[in-house]
Amino acid sequence: MKAVCPGSFDPVTMGHLDIFERAAAQFDEVIVLVTANPNKKSGLFSVAERMSLLEEAVAHLGNVRVDNWGGLLVEYTTAHKVTALVKGLRSSLDYEYELPMAQMNRRLSGVDTFFLLTDEKYGYISSTLCKEVARYGGDISGLLPPHVVEAVEAKYSQAQ
Ligand code: PNS
Repeated sequence: MKAVCPGSFDPVTMGHLDIFERAAAQFDEVIVLVTANPNKKSGLFSVAERMSLLEEAVAHLGNVRVDNWGGLLVEYTTAHKVTALVKGLRSSLDYEYELPMAQMNRRLSGVDTFFLLTDEKYGYISSTLCKEVARYGGDISGLLPPHVVEAVEAKYSQAQ
C-alpha cells in the first residue's frame, strides 16, 4: 500500500524524519510530498531546496521518495492511486488543525489520513520555531538533520 506524507517541510525536522521512518515501516511505498500551503508566506527555502534537503534526509530509506505538488493534495493522491495520507500529531493543537483537512480530503476523494503520535523527543520541534531560534543565533543542533542545520545556518549567515 502506498502513502503520502504531505507538508511544507521548510525545512524538514527530526520530527518529520521520525514520521517518515515509521510510515516506511508500515507502508510498501511512501512519497514525501512538498505541497503548497496557501496560508504560509514564502518560505526560507525554495521548493527545489526543500526537496534536495529531504532527499538527503531519506536516502537511507529504500521505499521512500520525494516529490512536489502545487495543486490540491487530493488531485495528486487520486492521480497516483494513493489511498493513505500519513501525518504526525504533536498535540491537541495539531489535532484541531489537522481534523478539518483530513475530513475535507476524505470528502473530496475518499483518501484516509493516518496519524502517528510524535515521539516525545520531538514534540516541541517545528520548522517555524527552529528557524526563529536560528535566526537569532540560537543552537538548533539535534533538532534538524545535520545537513539541514548547516543549510539553515548558511541562509541566516548570508542574510547578515
Ligand atoms: O506542513 P503544513 O504546511 O502544515 O502542511 C499543510 C499542507 C501543505 C499539507 C496543506 O496546506 C495542503 O494539503 N495543501 C495543498 C492544498 C490543498 O489540498 N488544500 C486543501 C486541504 S484540505
